[in-house]
Amino acid sequence: MKSRIEGKVSITAQGTCLVRAISYYEKDVNYKTNDHIAPIIVPSFLNLLTKYGFYRVLLKKMFLKAPGNCEYLIARTKFIDSIFESIDDSIEQVLIFGAGFDSRAIRFKNKLAKTKIFELDAPITQQIKIDRIRGKNIEIPENLKFISIDFKKESLAKKLDEIGFDKNKKCLFLLEGLTMYLNQESIDNIFNLVNKYSGENSLIVFDYVSASMVRRENTYNDPKIKKHYQVLAKAGEKPSFMIDGYIQDFLAKYNLYVIDELDSARLAKRYFNKDDFDLIAQKFRVVMAKK
Ligand SMILES: C[S@@+](CC[C@H](N)C(=O)[O-])C[C@H]1O[C@@H](n2cnc3c(N)ncnc32)[C@H](O)[C@@H]1O
Repeated sequence: MKSRIEGKVSITAQGTCLVRAISYYEKDVNYKTNDHIAPIIVPSFLNLLTKYGFYRVLLKKMFLKAPGNCEYLIARTKFIDSIFESIDDSIEQVLIFGAGFDSRAIRFKNKLAKTKIFELDAPITQQIKIDRIRGKNIEIPENLKFISIDFKKESLAKKLDEIGFDKNKKCLFLLEGLTMYLNQESIDNIFNLVNKYSGENSLIVFDYVSASMVRRENTYNDPKIKKHYQVLAKAGEKPSFMIDGYIQDFLAKYNLYVIDELDSARLAKRYFNKDDFDLIAQKFRVVMAKK
């Protein structure tokens, strides 16, 4: 059976871009992100609506039904932005897997001027992103290369070999909002490649759904959240992959070592200045690891 992303633009990529567009206009500093490109590359009517507080509340009610998801996406954006802000020249290649409407290659173009950047995504979503950027006369940095791929069906190693990818350079791999939509085989392929196709001290940043938290949350029984998951399932983009147990045990198989892992409580404290375990959806974790 064909998945949605084989025939249409990714619904979750559009959703996360909409959250960043909304958050860009938020007045509350906790809810504000700095993705000034997001409002430009969402469909024009959404660009207009996100400018008004009333419509931002309405859009969040319509599209962000699962409690704590919006806060999670905001905190995740800020965490990953902070990594890009602190990047130094030692990072020679940045690979953004499942890039969707990620705008960091544009937003951090000065910081990344000497870095090779690769964005990998499903072909239709990637093409629509390129068209939207070009359509808005935003310059695509010369050092950004687009690689279209279906991680579940195509060989990532082959795709990188075809473009003469240098396997010995220090890299930053980013998998933001991706692991949960893959399967064990494609996860193994990606994490093995991160180990084999990168120089020493390369970094990987990713987020995942914690199986043990999902078991505890039992949120799928809440009618509103059930509806949300039904919509994603119908669109063929229901989260499927989770990680059980300690993240270091998962990473050790790929010769990777955890530097930092942020759960909902730490994200809430760091980005919303709140000691609140429930503010951010508890099932998500963001990880930075090193080779
Ligand atoms: C939730 S979106 C995240 C997009 C972006 N990283 C962000 O945070 O805004 C998931 C992304 O993963 C991509 N994706 C999901 N499954 C994929 C697959 N099998 N092959 C390639 N890309 C995939 C989708 O096209 C989409 O862009």
